Amino acid sequence: MERKMAPSLMCIDLMNIEHDLRILEKAKVDYLHVDIMDNHFVPNITLSFDFINELRKVTSIPLDIHLMINNPENSFHYLTNCSPEDIICIHYEATPHVHRALGMIKDIGAKVGIALNPGTPIGVIEDLLPDLDMVLIMTVDPGFAGQKLIPSTLDKIARLRNMLDESGYQHILIEVDGNVSFENAKLMHEKGANIYVGGSSSIFHKESSIIENCHKFREIIYS
Ligand code: DX5
Ligand code: ZN
Repeated sequence: MERKMAPSLMCIDLMNIEHDLRILEKAKVDYLHVDIMDNHFVPNITLSFDFINELRKVTSIPLDIHLMINNPENSFHYLTNCSPEDIICIHYEATPHVHRALGMIKDIGAKVGIALNPGTPIGVIEDLLPDLDMVLIMTVDPGFAGQKLIPSTLDKIARLRNMLDESGYQHILIEVDGNVSFENAKLMHEKGANIYVGGSSSIFHKESSIIENCHKFREIIYS
């Protein structure tokens, strides 16, 4: 089963970003996870579409773009140079026109992801499965780094893996985001998660260097 590591750039040192990006390249991370917020869908603002377009100019690591914004279908045009390896992920809760929005991502030529808040049941995506490459299970309420894992989301990962496998969608990857610490990554691994967003509790944990954290993280998720 595929396992991938996606450092969350909202936790990188923005004043030293180019230096730290080169370290992430050396560590051969699979994706760069970029959180876009609008201060409406979630009560915060982090990185921006301009940031993504600039990032694309300085690194070729595929981007995992997590849109925590209302009506994302109105903003896709800001993403000017996505590659087929990039993932664009919208929230199920963010638009009444989810199906149309997912189709627009496909038209852009990126991989298609949908995110579910901790309070959203997995059953709501049943009719969307043919359109998806990835499902992101939020393991905290989205908006802020440094929160604590919501324990019920662990079982949700296992139930989703089961639902995907039993309905013939084994190829759809499950991503986990929020307090994916080294310890929690182990538990999420047991439940069948594929893409691990590493933030302040793992890859950017201050106790060790980024490169050491990446090695430790990789050992856990690739085990
Ligand atoms: C929100 C973010 C956060 C964060 C993860 O979508 O992706 O979940 O960066 O980092 P920690 O480890 O602080 O939860
Ligand atoms: Zn995120």
